[in-house]
Amino acid sequence: MSIFDILIHPDPRLKKTTAHMSAPIEGLQKIIDQMFETMYDAPGIGLAAPQVGIMERLFVMDAVREGNPDPIVMINPEITWGSDAKNVYEEGCLSIPGIYEEVERPEIVRIKYLDRDFKEHETEFDGLYATCAQHELDHLDGKLFIDYLSPLKRQMITKKMKKFKREEAALKTRET
Ligand code: NI
Repeated sequence: MSIFDILIHPDPRLKKTTAHMSAPIEGLQKIIDQMFETMYDAPGIGLAAPQVGIMERLFVMDAVREGNPDPIVMINPEITWGSDAKNVYEEGCLSIPGIYEEVERPEIVRIKYLDRDFKEHETEFDGLYATCAQHELDHLDGKLFIDYLSPLKRQMITKKMKKFKREEAALKTRET
């Protein structure tokens, strides 16, 4: 199994809203397995399909840091309820490497979604799970965690990422 290349911000594909998946797309199971592999390899706790250039309403996550893996697949996720109580987490993103900033989101959310077999669930998530699920769901709507920051901070981060991408590209050219 090979891993996907992860798109780095800024990239127009990270700004797009994905459409509802009405039936399993071709190769869905393989894509999901490969997304998990890419996420664990990174390593990260969540990965949305658009981050690997697949413009589908799908993400994977595993917020268990220690102990047993707890892989969760969400297709067409929809937040049906969010708590008034908020939680602040220092978030990061595989598409914005090296950047960590505090983001405030509802502490508990209820999410309706389809699993990898297109079976429907409605589950309540809290703690890191709630934050991770909301962060990944945002990706499906073309939203990044830096969109919650001030415009100035966002600009600085985007500038840093552009430089990072230039350096990566230069490195690749030198290698070949
Ligand atoms: Ni992310």
